[in-house]
Amino acid sequence: MPIDTTPTRNLAMELVRVTEAAAIAAGRFMGRGDKIAADQAAVDAMRAVLNTIEMKAVIVIGEGEKDEAPMLYNGEEVGTGDPPEMDIAVDPIDGTRPVAKGLPNAIATVALAPRGTMFNPGPFVYMHKIAVGPEAKGMIDVNAPVEVNLRRIARVKGKDVTDLTVVILDRPRHEQLIAEVRRLGARIRLIPDGDVAGALMTAWPGSGIDVLMGIGGTPEGVLAACALRAMGGEIQGKLYARNEDELRRGEEMGYDFHKVLTMDDLVASDDVFFAATGITDGELLRGVKYRGDTVRTHSLVVRGLTGTVREIFATHRIEKVKKLGEPRI
Ligand code: FBP
Repeated sequence: MPIDTTPTRNLAMELVRVTEAAAIAAGRFMGRGDKIAADQAAVDAMRAVLNTIEMKAVIVIGEGEKDEAPMLYNGEEVGTGDPPEMDIAVDPIDGTRPVAKGLPNAIATVALAPRGTMFNPGPFVYMHKIAVGPEAKGMIDVNAPVEVNLRRIARVKGKDVTDLTVVILDRPRHEQLIAEVRRLGARIRLIPDGDVAGALMTAWPGSGIDVLMGIGGTPEGVLAACALRAMGGEIQGKLYARNEDELRRGEEMGYDFHKVLTMDDLVASDDVFFAATGITDGELLRGVKYRGDTVRTHSLVVRGLTGTVREIFATHRIEKVKKLGEPRI
């Protein structure tokens, strides 16, 4: 079959305006101790720009159910309503607590993939995760002991286990995992929040992070899968039930809590787009800087079909864009 070499639309280039808008709106709330207000500002800004993009996208990963989330709820349609038909995952702020406290690594993020290709976790909020960058792709197994995974990753990277750095969410539920990684001698980067950024760091040259391990949000897992699929890395997941009742409800709904969720389960297409903008400073992205009449943002734009990763530094002239009305970015 002849290969079509005609350049096609890169939706991620349009998505970045969405994450920039959310980051600029949320960044104003840094350190104000009000994560709900920050999230609301990010949601409003994100939605206004999303609806200018020519697409018919259904939110698979959103802010929750319609009743509790007035906007960007699961099942809501966004975009202009014209083709292409897409699934969309949004996290207007991954790291609402870090924004509220002025701590690092909060990002605004969005991913798109063709309709029907994104995993829908339903109401189940947590999953086990293991994520690596391109060098260690194919070496991980979410069911294998920590030692096996770390040895395989170290071997393929030409390092000792003691040279590896593992990112883990700082949570009591990870006490055993942390103890095991320490026993093996690997280094640990405990993060207070934000495991989308944590997963991305594994595929980010120079971050010094080799692997993300532990239990985190399912929406964040799907977003990370979209980004890692495009960047050539890998994430595996497995749903985690917090109690017997959740397990039973999940099974009644047809979810399998023993199944390994591979990249293909989490997002079953290479035609995936991902964008993220820093809200507060982090290893991956710089946070929003307000400079009087201008605002600086730093974003990551990734396209699965080509594997192109762009870093975009933007200077927004706030007074000028405000005069244009919506969208403001
Ligand atoms: P929010 O900012 O949306 O609250 O998510 C932050 C986060 O740290 C995610 O990155 C992570 O996947 C999840 O929360 C972990 O959940 P919990 O804080 O309940 O352990």
